[in-house]
Amino acid sequence: MKDEFDLPYPQYRCPQCDRDLPLNEARMTITCAEHQPDADLSFVVREARRGDKSSIEAICDKALGEVEVDTFGKTFDVMRGVNLIAEVDDKLAGLLSLAIDRGELVIVLLSVYPEFQGHGVGSALLRASTAYAREHGIQCIRVGVSNDDIPLMYFYQRHSFAIYDIAVGKLVDDSGSAVAGFSGIPSRDEIRLRRPICPSC
Ligand SMILES: CC(C)(COP(=O)(O)OP(=O)(O)OC[C@H]1O[C@@H](n2cnc3c(N)ncnc32)[C@H](O)[C@@H]1OP(=O)(O)O)[C@@H](O)C(=O)NCCC(=O)NCCS
Repeated sequence: MKDEFDLPYPQYRCPQCDRDLPLNEARMTITCAEHQPDADLSFVVREARRGDKSSIEAICDKALGEVEVDTFGKTFDVMRGVNLIAEVDDKLAGLLSLAIDRGELVIVLLSVYPEFQGHGVGSALLRASTAYAREHGIQCIRVGVSNDDIPLMYFYQRHSFAIYDIAVGKLVDDSGSAVAGFSGIPSRDEIRLRRPICPSC
């Protein structure tokens, strides 16, 4: 495993000192359900328009350093996807990028800026994506998550996604070595989760 940190992007924020953290500096804290952040943030979720291009590129750059995402054995270009955005005071707070692959909806990227995390933005974007699937008669939504990304694993399973496959060693094969991911955990495998879309609920 490489010692250095390969993705120096702030992806989380420390609730104790308010510092934005690169992925490998982040740590988990367990609390009771009552001591979660307040959900009192006002935001709107909508489908992206042409004028959102530069702010979408900016969040991709912050989350990944690029607009192309490798998942499910393919390369998806966020700029060509169906992009749902959340805005706070007309400023982009989060992005959920979708693609249709073999008749199913694939979540290519979900990223909420650290200062807006924990206020329901990610959950609202996910609800908008299931609404999109329903409107378009799509029966399944799936996502590939890196094994180290415990917040995303938690997030998707809390939203009724279930693991159905693991591409063992896929991320090592792609990048040539195990990169240090969340909390310094080696990023090795693509965990694949999916959720069926009920047409009426
Ligand atoms: C995971 C992520 C999308 C969740 O978005 P969010 O807007 O914070 O999610 P919500 O506020 O809707 O919270 C949903 C749940 O996730 C938990 N959670 C996940 N990440 C959290 C974070 N960073 N801060 C606070 N809560 C978080 C919440 O506690 C909440 O739990 P609950 O369902 O038990 O109440 C967001 O933290 C994120 O973008 N992380 C960075 C991911 C990234 O950029 N990865 C690199 C590219 S893949």
